[in-house]
This record gives sequence, structure tokens and C-alpha cells, in this order.
Amino acid sequence: MDISKVAVLGAGTMGAGIAQVCAQVGCSVTLFDIDDASAERGLAGIDRFLAKGVARGKVTEEVKAETLARIAASSDQDAAVTGVDLVIEAAPESLKLKREIFTRVAAKAPAHAILATNTSSLPISQIAEGNDAAGRIVGMHFFNPVPLMKLLELVVGNETAPATTDAVRAFGMRLGKEVITVRDAPGFASSRLGICIAMEAIRMVEEGVASPEDIDRAMIFGYGHPMGPLKLTDLVGCDVRLAIADHLADSLDAPHFTPPALLRQMVADGRLGKKSGQGFYSWE
Ligand code: CAA
Repeated sequence: MDISKVAVLGAGTMGAGIAQVCAQVGCSVTLFDIDDASAERGLAGIDRFLAKGVARGKVTEEVKAETLARIAASSDQDAAVTGVDLVIEAAPESLKLKREIFTRVAAKAPAHAILATNTSSLPISQIAEGNDAAGRIVGMHFFNPVPLMKLLELVVGNETAPATTDAVRAFGMRLGKEVITVRDAPGFASSRLGICIAMEAIRMVEEGVASPEDIDRAMIFGYGHPMGPLKLTDLVGCDVRLAIADHLADSLDAPHFTPPALLRQMVADGRLGKKSGQGFYSWE
């Protein structure tokens, strides 16, 4: 299947990154968010990322201009999905919200369009339940920062058709990603392992085992991780990781996923990590 027109629903960090990589391989992309200001903010973020790429000599001015020219911001969801080959939803992690989005998208997008969700933990089969387009619904889980992270986790729902999986795998390879295929199990492969390490690292901070810096250094220098679990939690967002941990604790019935009180308190206090300026680290 030739994918040339893409709609990305949600212009946050993930949605913007996904829009960028799709545009970089030549797709025409509409980046949707619920209001113009949010959609434009996503576009501005792509501009900044590409500008940094130019400054580092990784991207040419020409590629930057071409990429930006292929992306349009929109606050009209129905118009955004009209005539597209692929929809990638990157909205907040709410099952109710995602189900509503997919119901509406299925009614408006072309009958051949693949409908993907970037969810990092919600069950694809529940997002697709009762949806007429369930065979075309699949998980395409990207990683932050999307243009730099090599992994694409392809999540196959109970009703996902093999042709959908094949098309998305081919598209992921076109994006230059390493594609892994995972069953629709809680937390898939990546979040289940990543959250497990992060929750334990936060428990270690609570218990005073070591400073956040030294816990992170343990994984960087002892295990070769590019970034420690606490800085990564700040980067992803403490609220995002709390929501995933709560979901995994419920669905896997395993105590090691239970979010530590410290994480709950940080989220309640608005210490969400990089986006709020304060998390396990200060990002001022
Ligand atoms: N455009 C193009 N290239 C860029 C760039 C840009 N704007 N910014 C950086 N780069 C390039 C750099 O030039 C460099 O390239 P080389 O390796 O060829 O030199 C490379 O990207 C790495 O950049 P840096 O040296 O500046 O930074 P780094 O080595 O510290 O790497 C990082 C940054 C890639 C983010 C790294 O720290 C990392 O991998 N961190 C872990 C991130 C991670 O785990 N993400 C997953 C989060 S979980 C998730 O996303 C899932 C979820 O569901 C929430």
C-alpha cells in the first residue's frame, strides 16, 4: 500500500515528532489538535527541532524547508482525515477519548485508510472494540524524541488484519525505524519493561538508597543506557508515567508496577518533569 497522505491527531511532543518523520520521507501531513494555537505550537516545535538539526549539521536548510512545507496545522479533525492513507492518533492516554476519536475517524477517513494509535499502554483491542474499522486499527508506538529514537513498536490487536500489520511494518521501515511486532498485552514490550525500571528507581529515591543523579548514573555507566530512568521519567512526563504505571498495576496485578507515593505526590504538586521545569531534576 502506498502511503502518501497522513493525518496526525494530537500536536504534543509525540504527535509533532511523528508528523516530522512522516514529512521527512515525503508524505503530506496534516497535524491536528483541538485548537489552532495547539496545532501551531506543534508545528513550531518541529521548526525548532529541525533548526537544531541544521545547527548540528544533521539536516540541511533545504530538507528543513521541504519538511515544513509538507506539514499543515489544523483544528478541524474531520477535514484532517479526509483523503488520507494513514491516521496516527497521538492524543492523551484516555481509553474513552481514544475510542471516541477512532469512532469519528472511522466515519470520516477513506475506507482504505489505516488507523493507528500511538498509545504506550492502552489495549488496541479495547480502542477498536465495536469499531467497524477494527481490522484497520493497529498500534504504532513511537519513542521520544521521535526523530532520533530508532524503535517503532507495532502492536497487533485481536481484530487487526494481517494486511494492516504488513502495511504499517513497511511504512515503519520507510521511516527508517527498527520495527518490532508485539501482541496486545498490557504495556506491550517497551512500556512494561521501562515502567518497571522507573517505578523501582523512584522507590529507591524514596528509600534514600542514592540520589537521583547516582541512580541514573548506575544505569548509564553500569548498563549502558543512554539516559537514566529518573531523567527519562522527567523527559516523558511524571504524569504520563504515573498513568501508565496505574494502568499496568491494574491489568497485570503485579506489585512492582504500583506507583510509589513520591511519584503521586510530585504529580499532585505539578512537578511533572521537563515540561513543568521541575521533576527529579530542575529543568529551569
Ligand atoms: N536533529 C537531528 N539530529 C539530532 C538532533 C536534531 N534536532 N538533536 C540531536 N541529534 C543527533 C545528534 O547530532 C547526535 O547524533 P550522532 O550520534 O550522530 O552524533 C544524536 O542525535 C544524539 O544527540 P546528542 O549527542 O545531543 O544527545 P544524546 O547523545 O544525549 O542523545 C537522546 C539524546 C537520543 C535523547 C538520548 O539521550 C536517549 O536515547 N535518551 C533516551 C530516550 C528514551 O529512552 N526515549 C524513550 C522514552 S519512552 C517513550 O517515548 C515511550 C512512551 O510511550 C512515553
